[in-house]
Amino acid sequence: MANHDICTKTMWALSVPLCILLIAFIALTAYATYSFHIFVPIAPNNDIDCEQMFNTSSENFITYIENRTLLEPSQNDKNCFSIRRRRYLPSDMPKSMAGNHNMYFIRVVSKDYDFVEEVLTMMHSPIHFFCFPIDISADALFKERMFRLGDCMVNVLVPRELFNTSTAHGMLNAHRKCLKEIDEFDWKHAVITAEHDLPLHSTKFLSRRSRRLRDMVEINGVHFKEEQLLAADANDTSSQLYQVTRNWMQHLCSVATISHSQHKTLYDYLLRTPNFDLPNDLHRETYVVESNCDTKKYDVDGSCLYAMEDFPSIRNTTRLFIRGDPHYDFGFVQCVHEVVFERTYFDPISNKNANNYLYGSHKNLINDYRN
Ligand SMILES: *[C@@H]1O[C@H](CO)[C@@H](O)[C@H](O)[C@H]1NC(C)=O
Ligand SMILES: *[C@@H]1O[C@H](CO)[C@@H](O)[C@H](O)[C@H]1NC(C)=O
Ligand SMILES: *[C@@H]1O[C@H](CO)[C@@H](O)[C@H](O)[C@H]1NC(C)=O
Ligand SMILES: *[C@@H]1O[C@H](CO)[C@@H](O)[C@H](O)[C@H]1NC(C)=O
Ligand SMILES: *[C@@H]1O[C@H](CO)[C@@H](O)[C@H](O)[C@H]1NC(C)=O
Repeated sequence: MANHDICTKTMWALSVPLCILLIAFIALTAYATYSFHIFVPIAPNNDIDCEQMFNTSSENFITYIENRTLLEPSQNDKNCFSIRRRRYLPSDMPKSMAGNHNMYFIRVVSKDYDFVEEVLTMMHSPIHFFCFPIDISADALFKERMFRLGDCMVNVLVPRELFNTSTAHGMLNAHRKCLKEIDEFDWKHAVITAEHDLPLHSTKFLSRRSRRLRDMVEINGVHFKEEQLLAADANDTSSQLYQVTRNWMQHLCSVATISHSQHKTLYDYLLRTPNFDLPNDLHRETYVVESNCDTKKYDVDGSCLYAMEDFPSIRNTTRLFIRGDPHYDFGFVQCVHEVVFERTYFDPISNKNANNYLYGSHKNLINDYRN
């Protein structure tokens, strides 16, 4: 009996520190799992071997071209967790990976929720903001999914108001809504793109590039200083500002980088210039088309829609964005995603410390990382 008592007491005495140890272990494991989730990106999910697509005489490439992957809409999500399970959209990231120049990415959208989500994933970083005004032509399911995306992610804004972006002023008002929405936040530059634009570089690269602009505005590669914007006469259709901005709007506002300090001056000016119809699905303007377009497929404004044939040359181009059509070649969009993923997480030039966060793995390509 006495022996049994001693045994029970010893057991009790032991179980307390054991319990504490167990709790500490569980807490540590949970913390480590959480941290890994923050630091270790999930490689884009893709059935195509994109490395093979660099060789346009390979069998894989030829087979792919005969039967391209097209966008397949995913099921409507029930909650935020389903979005997070599908996409790597971390809410925190080491400063050395994210950069510290806060950007604001704005694009008007009207359809293809999964394409919007794919491109958001390519560009996402928790320190930047994203805004997606919705065109009035969007269907109910698209709106529902976009609004949910905005509700789930703190740095993604989806204004509840819809915009008729069939005219220049409608498009400008949609952007302006975004610009005003978080005006008090500390974003430094806004990048305006068109619905089908795909980035070719990491967001960190884009933010570094923008930082060099300081207070200037860059539209279609042309720089404008504050004095030019303040002195601009909206009636003077011969000015460079008028010519460049009209051309930019005609091409669905792709691409402009606008400093926080100048967005009011610029949009005040633009909304004083004459309104005009923008190209859209019902009103295509493809009589002046982008030259050297291998696919001979054009967006509603005559911009080339790039596809897998162009994949080998995209690493060489200096362009920041190109257009893609998810209903013509979604596999190309996925392969561009892989290139941007590599440029974001493995590229030593744009991202010196990335490998440290991948367990010091010395992996430098997406395929090493997956294996
Ligand atoms: C491309 O594929 C072809 C056909 O399979 C092959 O003969 C050629 O060596 C490949 N080129 C490269 C650079 O891998
Ligand atoms: C095209 O690819 C899809 C998916 O990979 C496959 O299910 C289908 O059979 C292919 N079609 C042809 C004609 O090869
Ligand atoms: C959008 O605006 C255009 C031009 O003002 C108009 O013709 C069209 O009916 C409008 N669309 C909708 C859905 O209100
Ligand atoms: C521009 O033109 C409008 C209409 O013709 C006129 O009312 C306005 O005063 C002009 N603005 C300037 C700055 O000349
Ligand atoms: C890309 O650039 C590299 C090096 O400048 C060159 O060797 C390669 O042929 C180029 N590729 C294409 C598809 O233009």
